[in-house]
Amino acid sequence: MCTFPQAVYENRTICKFRCGKSHWVRFRTFRRPVLPIKRLARRFLGKEPTCTQHIGLVRLPKLPLPLLEQTLAKYEKTMQPLLDEKGQMKLRNIIREFGEKLGPRLQLYLLEQQRLKENWAYDYWLNDMYLKNQNALPVNSNPGMVFPPRKFTTILDIARFASRLLEAALDHKAILNRRDLPVEKATSREPGQPLCMAQYYRILGSCRIPGEYGDSQYISPKPAPNEMVNEHVIVICRSQLYCVPVQACDRGRLSEDELCSQLLHILDDAPCLNNPPPVGLLTGWKRPLWAEARASLAHDERNRRNLDLIAKSLLVICLDEALPPSFNCRLHRGAKGHSAGNRDEANLSAQMLHGGGSGFNSANRWFDKTIQIIISGDGACGLCYEHSSAEGVTVINLMEKLWDYADSKMGENDVPASSIAHLPPPERLEWNLTKEDYANMEEAAKFLDNLVKDLDFQVFRFNNYGKNFIKSCNVSPDVYIQLALQLAYYRLYGKLTATYESASTRRFALGRVDCIRSASPEALAWVTAMSQLKEDDMLNKKVTFHLVSDEEKLKLWNEAVMQQTREMVDNILGQGIDIHLLGLREAARETSPHANYPLPEIFTDGSYRLANKFLLSTSQVSTSGDSFMGYGPVEQNGYGASYNPKADCIIFCLSAFWSSEVTSTSRFAQALEESLNMMQALLTRPQ
Ligand code: COA
Repeated sequence: MCTFPQAVYENRTICKFRCGKSHWVRFRTFRRPVLPIKRLARRFLGKEPTCTQHIGLVRLPKLPLPLLEQTLAKYEKTMQPLLDEKGQMKLRNIIREFGEKLGPRLQLYLLEQQRLKENWAYDYWLNDMYLKNQNALPVNSNPGMVFPPRKFTTILDIARFASRLLEAALDHKAILNRRDLPVEKATSREPGQPLCMAQYYRILGSCRIPGEYGDSQYISPKPAPNEMVNEHVIVICRSQLYCVPVQACDRGRLSEDELCSQLLHILDDAPCLNNPPPVGLLTGWKRPLWAEARASLAHDERNRRNLDLIAKSLLVICLDEALPPSFNCRLHRGAKGHSAGNRDEANLSAQMLHGGGSGFNSANRWFDKTIQIIISGDGACGLCYEHSSAEGVTVINLMEKLWDYADSKMGENDVPASSIAHLPPPERLEWNLTKEDYANMEEAAKFLDNLVKDLDFQVFRFNNYGKNFIKSCNVSPDVYIQLALQLAYYRLYGKLTATYESASTRRFALGRVDCIRSASPEALAWVTAMSQLKEDDMLNKKVTFHLVSDEEKLKLWNEAVMQQTREMVDNILGQGIDIHLLGLREAARETSPHANYPLPEIFTDGSYRLANKFLLSTSQVSTSGDSFMGYGPVEQNGYGASYNPKADCIIFCLSAFWSSEVTSTSRFAQALEESLNMMQALLTRPQ
């Protein structure tokens, strides 16, 4: 019997699916049943055959296309807290008209895309989120990750540590080349579901390439079975790039000793150079400007070869100088977490996010490269990663694997054997630069320095409780933290704002993320109740009263939790609204009779801009060790807020821009702390 999840498809669709083991049949579905989420999940993701053959030989369902009416109804609801009565009425009419006229036609178009493609939303989303985004990569797009600092006494310690990371990366690449990476499984919400592994196959060896009208990606080709490929990495030290071959077809892989001696050579060589040109700064410029500058560099054959070597390298290792402890001294209360020397966690994060500007390590970067491992002389270590190829979760998993390997070999820092002295030294990448290239580097430096100066970033460790307490309240930790962020925002601004939380859709083939919208009407009702205070003078003393009873607050809390949980589950099961709306918008573009045909009003009205102006851009980035990842805000007046829930604490990375007159990470951290404490008090109050 056929058990394909027909519910994925909507009315009047013809879909092709596999029946039993050997026959492809065509099937016509007439009416899509509306199933409760749990049953829907079981049908989408259960043991049924799936419709796509996928990387790592896992069969995964295709990303569903939600019902048009469902998405439009959710969109209307999600906008209620953000619009006044008049705005809501206007949007209701716009949505009704879209749902009656153009919407169904566009939906049919998307259904056809879903039938034809492995993941109907992949390119729409990739272009919209990354490749068509013209903002500079540091701060605006590339996350930074801080690992617990290490102790380096000599440059041999640095070279040994880096060579072990490289060894582990090469082991991992060999597994990828064999297509042998074990398939991960979802750990909650229908646990055991296989997850799409495609991101892992893109991380090493890929690079974003700037373009005047949009970027593109270089993704390294899959080698043939048993093919030994040449591999190299780029090492940057004091702004000088070196190409280090790490595997050659004729001689196999370099040993750890050999890698170490190559790195020692670089650490010896770079300090003797006379100001190498800071070409890496160009990669931190606005994308179209970098695209133009890159085209100018590429006129020269040698430069072209350098650019090619960088793009095709496995990864980049940045051997950095430490930032001075006073860097970013505008930064607030220092979080009590890691420190390298007397640098605090915000200072360490700055090094990973942007390098500190042209006066410090920003030229010691190639921001286009998916993986840049940063190792600083004072022991600070971390990562800056280009986001378009993969989400944080997969990158963190890979990095933790490399770090664990390097840790397991700690303490064996011998000098490399002299028998490997025959190896040719790594190639310094020299550039042929024109006046125009130097002028570009100067402009890029100014731009990047301003961006660096403008970043207000703080690591806020909330130590009063963590996941254990939240679970004991029978609430999902993710839901709880999202509601805490809503309460904190409301306490500061007296309103909610469009909020983005990334939800992984890796249960589907080529799944990336959709957006959990946490600013729901239920959340608004609850945060409003939590914030209704009245001050009175009693016997000449100021006394604060809560206008809403605890019982009422708890009732509203439960409703907000239920809504947020539903929204989260909907998203990870491919029933989010953002990807669908984006698809409908792009479908309108692709099917419009002529190029200048206006988009439907639902996408041109101010409400759509408001819906997509994420003043709170949030993401759970959990790590297994004591590392953490953060990123910048996506709007001038917005906040970036990543969180890493641990058993008994939560690590937040909060970001904003100093140039904004309305944001401050200090104030936000304080509001967040108060909110988390208020929530605990509410949930543990005596009966
Ligand atoms: N009562 C008690 N415990 C609960 C609970 C409840 N009501 N609901 C959930 N839990 C438990 C879970 O079982 C899980 O337990 P574990 O720690 O033993 O595994 C834990 O709480 C965490 O669950 P939850 O907080 O619900 O979150 P999650 O781990 O399912 O994650 C998302 C939710 C949305 C963050 C996740 O699905 C996701 O999409 N992650 C990717 C985010 C991403 O892409 N980030 C990077 C962007 S660059």
